[in-house]
Amino acid sequence: MKNSKIVGLGHAVPSTVVTNQDIAKWIDTTDEWITERTGIKERRFFDPEIEGSLAKMAKIAADMALKNAKMKNEDIDFIIFASITPDYFFPGSSVLLQREMGMDTIGCLDIRNACSGFVYSLSVADQFIKTGMYKNIMVVGGEIQSTAIDMSDRGRSTAVIFGDGVGVAIMSASDEQGVLSTHLHAEGTYAEELYVKDPGSSRSREERQPEQILDTSGYKVYMNGNMVFKHAVVRFQEVIHEALEANNLKPSDIDMLVPHQANLRISKFIQSKMGLTDDKVFNNIQKYGNTTAASIPIALSEAWHEGKVKEGDLVCLAAFGSGFTWASALIRW
Ligand SMILES: CC(C)(COP(=O)(O)OP(=O)(O)OC[C@H]1O[C@@H](n2cnc3c(N)ncnc32)[C@H](O)[C@@H]1OP(=O)(O)O)[C@@H](O)C(=O)NCCC(=O)NCCS
Repeated sequence: MKNSKIVGLGHAVPSTVVTNQDIAKWIDTTDEWITERTGIKERRFFDPEIEGSLAKMAKIAADMALKNAKMKNEDIDFIIFASITPDYFFPGSSVLLQREMGMDTIGCLDIRNACSGFVYSLSVADQFIKTGMYKNIMVVGGEIQSTAIDMSDRGRSTAVIFGDGVGVAIMSASDEQGVLSTHLHAEGTYAEELYVKDPGSSRSREERQPEQILDTSGYKVYMNGNMVFKHAVVRFQEVIHEALEANNLKPSDIDMLVPHQANLRISKFIQSKMGLTDDKVFNNIQKYGNTTAASIPIALSEAWHEGKVKEGDLVCLAAFGSGFTWASALIRW
């Protein structure tokens, strides 16, 4: 049986930088508050006039990943696109990326698992490769959160956190070690603690198609920040330990932990609990905020391009987010 290996990585973020000072002009907050509570200094916001669409941003990241993998478009057998902010309510952005790339009629799959979306997608790609169904899969995590943010004082705990971007990994069949294991979890009990209600289907036609869409608050992100924080710090640790135990490894074996970039305080807490030194945890939330499904592939791509992930390294990816869902992947690079 073949293993699956990441053979190329790419990322793309919008060109518009939004600093904490910028946010403080729009809502009642300060740079000090945001930095202390989240670690974020700036994030990127999508501009339709500049970036065009999520699928167009994804193409830039995909071209970069293909170049690194020394592959051409026609080498890709399948696309998996993780996003909770696709270009359209349906179809998902995977087919739009396929169209942007000029790829033939290869299969396209969309995954809506929020911040865990990329790790879930990587796991799906791993299974397809291990069963021999596909050889080269393009795995994408991409989000445009900024256009849905509630930029009023009421939305200030979510407005400061999110940012936009895309990351892409090319996964290929290999005789070498690659993805060692993936562990996926969810707890639907907490679905409404971090969610966007509309345009949801489980309601009357009048509610689903309101006259005054903007007057209904269901279209904006709701997040119970405290509850999310408390669950995240527990689940991150659990799912990383689960991955290590499944492979008879210990925290000190990890060469690089790339956690979902939810909040620097969460990453630092996990780092100290796992006894990892600064050089073994990669964070870039300071620059990009929380880019949901894009955060891990952007971070992984940056870490790899900076030479921080090397051949033979044990790399651990871990995510937690809306659902609640959480997941980990352990990779021998
Ligand atoms: C959102 C988060 C940063 C809020 O930080 P917190 O320390 O929990 O803050 P609280 O929500 O308890 O609010 C504390 C106070 O700050 C205020 N506050 C909230 N947002 C603020 C902002 N942007 N600027 C200034 N003050 C703010 C609150 O109104 C509250 O004031 P009060 O005590 O007078 O009522 C934090 O809960 C968090 O990071 N949670 C996890 C979020 C996450 O990771 N989400 C993505 C998951 S994938």
